[in-house]
Amino acid sequence: FRIANSGYIEAKMIWMSLVLFGLFSSVTFISAQDSLCVDNTSVCVPFQQIEPGCHCILTRRALTSNDYVYKILSQKAVDELNRFFSVNESAPVPVDTSVFAKLHDKVHTHLMTFPTSLAGKIISKQDDWLTSQTIRRLINCTEPRCEVINETTDLQGNPPPTRPDRAFRVSRALRYDIEGEGRTLLALASATSDFLLTKKSVRKCHHQLFWKKCHTEWILREFDAQSRADWMKHVSHAMIGGFRREMADLLV
Ligand SMILES: *[C@@H]1O[C@H](CO)[C@@H](O)[C@H](O)[C@H]1NC(C)=O
Ligand SMILES: *[C@@H]1O[C@H](CO)[C@@H](O)[C@H](O)[C@H]1NC(C)=O
Ligand SMILES: *[C@@H]1O[C@H](CO)[C@@H](O)[C@H](O)[C@H]1NC(C)=O
Ligand SMILES: *[C@@H]1O[C@H](CO)[C@@H](O)[C@H](O)[C@H]1NC(C)=O
Repeated sequence: FRIANSGYIEAKMIWMSLVLFGLFSSVTFISAQDSLCVDNTSVCVPFQQIEPGCHCILTRRALTSNDYVYKILSQKAVDELNRFFSVNESAPVPVDTSVFAKLHDKVHTHLMTFPTSLAGKIISKQDDWLTSQTIRRLINCTEPRCEVINETTDLQGNPPPTRPDRAFRVSRALRYDIEGEGRTLLALASATSDFLLTKKSVRKCHHQLFWKKCHTEWILREFDAQSRADWMKHVSHAMIGGFRREMADLLV
């Protein structure tokens, strides 16, 4: 009886530790997928983007520490960033508020360097910010630099041109294989932008016997080529300005 009983308890403990092991291993798996630099010093990010598991910090001057690896962002890479996220295009550009109401932008920026051999693996993880087409193009880049500009995703699919409430994601990304370093730089800014198109007034007239009778009507406005270009310019500047602010200590 005693033997049978302890055998039962033993079996139960083995089963419980299997369950616990399963739980822990799945948790580790999930967090390893979340962060790009878990247990690896080959992916380097700016100081403000360091997350648990990241160990490599991009810097402009040599620093040492026991907890982190510091990698100098070379002048060539800085020049590329200053070109792609240029000062000239970083000043805010307001939109015409009689056309766009309740405009709201949220900009996310990301910068990292890694061995070029890891480019495919790391770029393919950026699918929160870039479309699969763009990811393929950046991975398949055969030049020293490949750029994505004005990549726009309509978050509502394919709405009619007069839909007043609109939401988009816009991305700008640069892959640069840093000359002579065997490392690749990936920089991106991605914005979600939503707004309300105001109604526009049109004058309608009709003839009544001997005189003309007119009145004003309010109709839905189209998100046409002109308003799209104005909005795109505004978002581009917001993204470039946001990137420059976020990375200010590296862009000097
Ligand atoms: C860490 O980096 C090396 C090369 O630098 C790579 O082979 C390895 O797959 C990386 N590990 C992870 C977990 O990304
Ligand atoms: C910025 O604008 C100035 C003057 O308009 C021009 O000379 C310069 O080349 C521009 N710089 C960039 C990076 O586009
Ligand atoms: C990668 O680029 C090459 C040459 O430009 C092209 O032939 C190939 O189809 C591309 N592959 C993908 C997956 O885009
Ligand atoms: C991106 O959008 C801006 C603003 O509308 C425009 O000036 C520029 O030509 C566009 N660039 C590309 C490559 O489409």
